[in-house]
Amino acid sequence: MKHFLDLATWETNELKHILDLAVHLKKEWQTGGNRPVLSNKILGMIFQKPSLRTRVSFEVAMKHLGGSAIMLGPQEIGLGKRESIPDVARVLSGYVDIIMARVFDHAHVTELAEWSRVPVINGLSDDTHPCQAMADLLTIYERFGRVEGLKIAYIGDGNNVAVSLLYASAHFGLNFAIATPEGHELPQTVRDKVTEIKSRSGIDVLETTHPQMAVEDADVIYTDTWISMGQEAETAERLKTFAPYQINADLLQQSKKSSIVLHCLPAHRGDEITDEVADGRQSAIFQQAENRLHAQKAILVHLLTHR
Ligand code: CP
Ligand code: NVA
Repeated sequence: MKHFLDLATWETNELKHILDLAVHLKKEWQTGGNRPVLSNKILGMIFQKPSLRTRVSFEVAMKHLGGSAIMLGPQEIGLGKRESIPDVARVLSGYVDIIMARVFDHAHVTELAEWSRVPVINGLSDDTHPCQAMADLLTIYERFGRVEGLKIAYIGDGNNVAVSLLYASAHFGLNFAIATPEGHELPQTVRDKVTEIKSRSGIDVLETTHPQMAVEDADVIYTDTWISMGQEAETAERLKTFAPYQINADLLQQSKKSSIVLHCLPAHRGDEITDEVADGRQSAIFQQAENRLHAQKAILVHLLTHR
């Protein structure tokens, strides 16, 4: 049984299959609706953090495919507090067909998977956000008609979203540049793998502190919040450190006119992205948000039907 916890542990051809399936399921939905291939299947959704996109798109995805979802918020099960993670996993997997969990500590989602008798999907941990990266690839594919050979420039915090985007880039052949302030680079464990990622995938990876260098010749310019969930106590310091890393009209001028702007959302307009850019000609952020639905349908179908 396979879990969807981290793109690093998946085979490229399987991820390509999921992306193709997402394209197919989106088209099917737009031309009369999806076939109920997950009829009677139930998704259990555990949330230790807030969510709009992940929570709603997973629930809607299950409904469109003939199944349903149960929401379990932080107050309800107290993952690891009211009850141990192995006990939650063994009980919940006796009721539902698949589990999605949004957690702080990545080890908690891997522990859930270890004890679960049904597939577990990582709906974001402090370390990675693989479902987001699949929706990002779908958006890039729709905008350019291909993904391989393009260049992504990620500007901001070397966080969970940046890590998954790097792995997605390696699998799908996108060159990856990341501009972060000193002290906010990708985690050292990931940086240690960059040489191996480059030689295995053949992509270029540029790590810099200069946003202008990163966006040069980029096809996709990407940012995320400077203050991830759980980092609220560092807000004042982070706002100061990251100020030069805003995606604004001046920065876009340094890149191609044909580049698109992505943001996983929620956006903090006026901080990591200006209104002018978020609502501008190059922005694809709402298409990207909608694509969470289609990409996750593909992940759900793949996990539940390709055992
Ligand atoms: N991008 C994303 O995961 O959004 P939510 O936090 O609203 O789920
Ligand atoms: N890096 C952000 C992503 C939100 C979808 C966070 O972890 O809060």
